[in-house]
Amino acid sequence: MTRKILVTSALPYANGAIHLGHLVEYIQTDIWTRFQKMRGHECWYVCADDTHGTPIMLRAEKEGITPEALISRVHAEHSRDFAGFHVAFDNYHTTHSDETRHYSEDIYARLKAAGLIEVRAIEQFYDPVKAMFLPDRFIKGECPKCGTKDQYGDACESCGAAYAPTDLKNPYSAVSGAKPELRSSDHYFFKLSDPRCQEFLRRATREVCKSQPEAVNKLQEWLGEPGENKLTDWDISRDAPYFGFEIPGAPGKFFYVWLDAPIGYMGSFRNFCARKGLDFDEFWGRDSKAELHHFVGKDILYFHALFWPAELEHAGYRIPTSVFAHGFLTVDGAKMSKSRGTFITAESYLAQGLNPEWLRYYFAAKLNGTMEDIDLNLDDFVSRVNSDLVGKYINIASRAAGFIAKRFDGKLDARHLNETFRAELPGLIEAGEEIAAHYEARDYARALRRVMALADQVNQYVDKHQPWQLAKQGGQDARLLEVCSLLINAFRLLTIYLKPVLPKLAQRAEEFLNVAPLHWADSGHLLPPSHLINVYEHLMQRIDPKQVEALVAANRESLAPTVQSTVSPAPTSAEPQSPQRHAQHQQHVATPPPQPSPAEGGGARGGAFAPVIGIDDFARVDLRVARIADAQHVEGADKLIRLTLDLGEGGTRNVFAGIKSAYDPAQLVGRLTVLVANLAPRKMKFGMSEGMVLAASDDGGKTPGLFLLSPDSGAIPGMKVK
Ligand code: 2FM
Ligand code: ZN
Repeated sequence: MTRKILVTSALPYANGAIHLGHLVEYIQTDIWTRFQKMRGHECWYVCADDTHGTPIMLRAEKEGITPEALISRVHAEHSRDFAGFHVAFDNYHTTHSDETRHYSEDIYARLKAAGLIEVRAIEQFYDPVKAMFLPDRFIKGECPKCGTKDQYGDACESCGAAYAPTDLKNPYSAVSGAKPELRSSDHYFFKLSDPRCQEFLRRATREVCKSQPEAVNKLQEWLGEPGENKLTDWDISRDAPYFGFEIPGAPGKFFYVWLDAPIGYMGSFRNFCARKGLDFDEFWGRDSKAELHHFVGKDILYFHALFWPAELEHAGYRIPTSVFAHGFLTVDGAKMSKSRGTFITAESYLAQGLNPEWLRYYFAAKLNGTMEDIDLNLDDFVSRVNSDLVGKYINIASRAAGFIAKRFDGKLDARHLNETFRAELPGLIEAGEEIAAHYEARDYARALRRVMALADQVNQYVDKHQPWQLAKQGGQDARLLEVCSLLINAFRLLTIYLKPVLPKLAQRAEEFLNVAPLHWADSGHLLPPSHLINVYEHLMQRIDPKQVEALVAANRESLAPTVQSTVSPAPTSAEPQSPQRHAQHQQHVATPPPQPSPAEGGGARGGAFAPVIGIDDFARVDLRVARIADAQHVEGADKLIRLTLDLGEGGTRNVFAGIKSAYDPAQLVGRLTVLVANLAPRKMKFGMSEGMVLAASDDGGKTPGLFLLSPDSGAIPGMKVK
């Protein structure tokens, strides 16, 4: 039976870079949706940027741009990072959209009509200089428990105590430095404590979390015993100034995160439906028969399993089929840390030339469908990927392919090998349904253990029959062809089983195998007799431990004081009523990835060549011809020249280039050069740098100097360089 399935991941805040902690969830969800699609189900995966709130408003202000400009830039950065890790959303939208506004207003109106909205005055810290109420993370002071200075308003980073901002000693505003005042203001509340919500949640939420007993226990704890009323009402409003949707009929009051972020799931899907001609109500209507699954971190389980279903139920929509919570990421057994270089951004991982599928595989090998934290042990990462993927899986194809190509013109055995295959490699075909059940249960660790056990079995077969020996002996051609054909078939089956985790590798394997995109059902049969395969090209490099060392060093280096953070110091909007948010979730702080200086070149002279990349990787870099319209010294900068670059129809760009040691600005004006046009803009002490020009140099080598690249004459500004 074909299932209709809608899947979401939590919406990331639009004020920081995607990092490896985020990727656990997106990779987990992506594997599941790819698996469902391979099974032939109608499965859609939607997400969006969570764009509203005080931190985003303040950060835009700090950068001197509008919140709209900030969120559109971050949207492009997030989309790029997700695509870089092959996270294949069917739609990646924004909460700052007409669709989300529509459903926020609609849900609010229905909850109000049901008598579930209440207005109440509350006291909060107010910054008299900034003329605004302050979220907890923007209030600092001395910890009431241990006295450590400069602690946030919700918890102490030194002793771990959690408290209310009003408990801080000598509080000050992290925005203006002013002493905050307590002021009263009307807030809007969703009455989660209403008996209707209590009754509904006791009935429904166990079902929503049934696949995770630890989540059911948590819910039980939050709900308390029957008769107990432990649920508190939820503050759903914030006062102006705020970047978000104003509450209809309540001037100066705005919907707070839980009345617009999860509604972004609906907004994104609505936007997708309009483009695809799908029926929105079939998925979100009260009587929907479709499945709705939310993948979230365990820190927002409360919101997704209590607040969100209650909100949907009482506004007349369907409730989620399930909420799947995962744990947090640690690196080498500890919380991700900028000083240790383990707070690694998605962008820096890719920029260092590491293969995204290595990380997908490693995360998958650790994800078991529970709420346990998962650890990225960097040594284990290298050895597991190298031994499992390259040593076991890829090895099978590389052992057999050469003989088929050279000795048999790329053609497999002309006989039907079904029976021989089942006899010589028992269990390989039969394991398909068992592995599928593990994927379905999100126990990818178990699925991959099973796949690797099968790969071991196939490698034992290789060792036993030694195709290279058969090739040396005379008169063994038929046996050599049979053995190699069985191996190619085994490789194909393993490719199917690994495809949800390794989609790009599988695509290259499909090209090599000369087959259409593989579906799960294809694991029930072998390749046809005399099937032609293509020439084998190596499918995956080993990880060099030096690459991982360089990644950690790059993320550590990015803390150097000369590098300007592009993000405000107070990253998220953790609020008084929130359960303690895990630091991973709060640290949406983008440490700008190390920007290669123009002097960093590849090539033997400039040091070892960088790891091999595919043409797709190269194509992600948008190189353009640019004319230097103006060049100026930058006051206070030793190395930089400010370039104004003309890109023809692409407008002009401001770029700071570290080429002062080699060029006089005057001699640069008018000449053509090459610009990396899609590099994320970088805020520097002297202004925004909107790209990078290319130059050659021999850092540490014998030839001094810096050589700006130029196209031959005749090139026109804006032309693509390929
Ligand atoms: O906690 C967060 O990261 C918020 N951006 C909300 C994500 S979940 C939501 F979208 F419902
Ligand atoms: Zn303390």
